[in-house]
Amino acid sequence: MAIERTLSIIKPDATRRNLTGQINARLEEAELRIVAQKRVRLTLDQAQAFYDVHKERAFFEDLCNFMITGPVVVQVLEGEDAIAKNREVMGATNPANADEGTIRKDFAESIEANSVHGSDATETAVREISFFFSELEIVG
Ligand code: CMP
Repeated sequence: MAIERTLSIIKPDATRRNLTGQINARLEEAELRIVAQKRVRLTLDQAQAFYDVHKERAFFEDLCNFMITGPVVVQVLEGEDAIAKNREVMGATNPANADEGTIRKDFAESIEANSVHGSDATETAVREISFFFSELEIVG
């Protein structure tokens, strides 16, 4: 398996409930290394640009409005098979369908306020990482 990097976002519902440390512990327990991390408050323009791929979806406007309700923690995770591993640790998008022991099962409030985001494929990870971080800010 290859060493990969993936983008993770701890969403406003989770930062509001002070869950950053607990979520980071889950990631590290899964042998994902946090090789870059910052806490930012997105503007509406930034949220819309980040989720551009979903712009035709009915939930797009609500999703972008939700993402600016509070700070988010954006991070680059590195490890073997990091993209798939992070998605495993996160659980299904809808917490109602998430497996026991996953971040979304344990912490998410709804399909929208689902505590974390993770890149879904190699090309997406490259795009999403460069959306928030320069190479200089990623220290493996
Ligand atoms: P995320 O992994 O950040 O990618 C897009 C987000 O849209 C997703 O998590 C959900 O929080 C949100 N979303 C809201 N409604 C839906 C829906 N019906 N299907 C998929 N994603 C949704």
